Amino acid sequence: MTEGRGLRIEAAGVSQWVRGGRHTLTDVSLTIEPGELVAIVGGSGTGKTTLLDALAGIRPAAAGVVRYDRPLSFGYVPQDDIIHLELPLARTLRYAARLRLPKGTTEATLDAAVRDVLQALDLAGRADVRVGALSGGQRKRASIAVELLTSPGVFFLDEPTSGLDPARAAEFMRLLRRLADGGTTVVLATHHPPDVRKCDKIAFLAGDGRLAFFGPPAAACAFFETDDIEEIYELLAGDDTAREWGERFAAGRADAPAATPQSSVAESSAAAGGRMIGAIGQWSLLTRRNLDILVRNRLTVALLAGSPVMVLLMFAVLFRPGAFDPTQPSPNATVMILFWVAFGGFFFGLTYGLLQICTEFAIVRRERLAGLGVGPYVLAKATVLLPLLAVVDLLTLAVLRALDRLPAADAATYGELFVTLLLSSAAALALGLLTSAAVADPAQAAIALPMLCFPQVLFVGAILPVPVMAVAGRVLSYPMSNRWAFEGLGHSLDVASLWARGGSPLGPPLLASYGDTFSRPLLADWAILGGFAVAFLVAAGLVLGRKAPAQQRSRGASPV
Ligand SMILES: Nc1ncnc2c1ncn2[C@@H]1O[C@H](COP(=O)(O)OP(=O)(O)OP(=O)(O)O)[C@@H](O)[C@H]1O
Ligand SMILES: [Mg+2]
Repeated sequence: MTEGRGLRIEAAGVSQWVRGGRHTLTDVSLTIEPGELVAIVGGSGTGKTTLLDALAGIRPAAAGVVRYDRPLSFGYVPQDDIIHLELPLARTLRYAARLRLPKGTTEATLDAAVRDVLQALDLAGRADVRVGALSGGQRKRASIAVELLTSPGVFFLDEPTSGLDPARAAEFMRLLRRLADGGTTVVLATHHPPDVRKCDKIAFLAGDGRLAFFGPPAAACAFFETDDIEEIYELLAGDDTAREWGERFAAGRADAPAATPQSSVAESSAAAGGRMIGAIGQWSLLTRRNLDILVRNRLTVALLAGSPVMVLLMFAVLFRPGAFDPTQPSPNATVMILFWVAFGGFFFGLTYGLLQICTEFAIVRRERLAGLGVGPYVLAKATVLLPLLAVVDLLTLAVLRALDRLPAADAATYGELFVTLLLSSAAALALGLLTSAAVADPAQAAIALPMLCFPQVLFVGAILPVPVMAVAGRVLSYPMSNRWAFEGLGHSLDVASLWARGGSPLGPPLLASYGDTFSRPLLADWAILGGFAVAFLVAAGLVLGRKAPAQQRSRGASPV
């Protein structure tokens, strides 16, 4: 798969800084020739990842330029795995091939591409093994396999050998060597001295991302007057010494490319290899992949199916039958039944969505760089989960009716209840997806869950009717999607007249405290719930778009 020539990369005066003005890269200039294997080394926090991202154009430099000798097509393997653990290797590669290879590529060509990369990475024997069941080294190779599908001109890898035992790390470096020998330019950040010795050149970073050396490993030893790469780390440990070495290196070099911004050639990888599949194609592909992942993850399936069943059981144990009996209605039981049915629709929607995105950030980031749209991505999530929620909502209503916890009513009424509940689930699912896109990791998503649920219990107007809430509480009740679901359910079952008719002493006063809660036209509730669903979905897309930007087209600002 490594046909063609590697890319030539020229960085001139590249600097990067973070908020507060602290430099994370300081005036880095270097040239990487086609087919070279180059290591970026240096202590922790010296800017290896930052330089790698600047060279790849993922986070373009704040100053200086990065030039390529032809349109950039690159493979990028971040430190985290960029493939789903649930799917068999060949299958996950097949999805990746469909997503990344140009539109119109035939099925046979896709299959051949997958076969080729499996062979090239010595993974043919593991094609049917679940990615999660591969060894660490195999999984790293699998990440590379995904990137190799498009035959990129350059490969960027961030610490690919960390976590591998020395033998596997050496084997992995031999693989990179083969790739480079085949013509692909390979740039990797690494901590491991043994990796470095197999490279054509090393870029030593020190201090605030200052280039302390760039050249062949042997020359590095000569420059630092040592024969041990490990010792160079120690030499560069202090900030002052790092600056000294940096200045000494800069003074002695004649090879640094000039920082003139002429002919900065750069295009997205998709453009370099032909257009990838369109938005609808992406949506349908990701929908299939999501479904595939879902059904293979038995624990998830068990939780998705099991938790509604458990909750239904609890409802059945908690509520007595016949609360809606018109001759003897039990107003506060009916309020609670309606509220908890509404809350169930909300809760399952929220929890189904909450872990969908934050568990695969590394994958989304990478696929966004390859041209994936946030719209198709978010919609594909909703497309798989909404039908499941429809089943849960339907089941809730059917079981509670069968157990006489909900009253007898005609099909039209139950149709209304179902639509209300499903819209409520959809709004909650969208809120879950938005939260999942916004948090940093699954742990934060778990913390967000109670924060999202509490207000949807307190400010809904069931535990405490809206008319008797404090003013601030009443204001807060408006953005609670659950409020409109609860009121819509009450409207369809006409609880207001039920309580007015009933001889129960709790009827009229309780009814009064609810005011006109249940009198709004149902369509208004539906419109509000639908509005929430759309707004949250759009917000999820926007948040994700900011967090995982599409590939940057401009590389590097003007030189300082
Ligand atoms: N988003 C950010 N905001 C603030 N500081 C950042 C950010 N990203 C990186 N840095 C800082 O920039 C410096 C270089 O970070 P970078 O991740 O490039 O280091 P590294 O050499 O890859 O380190 P490691 O070996 O630990 O991976 C660090 O001091 C880090 O704290
Ligand atoms: Mg790093």
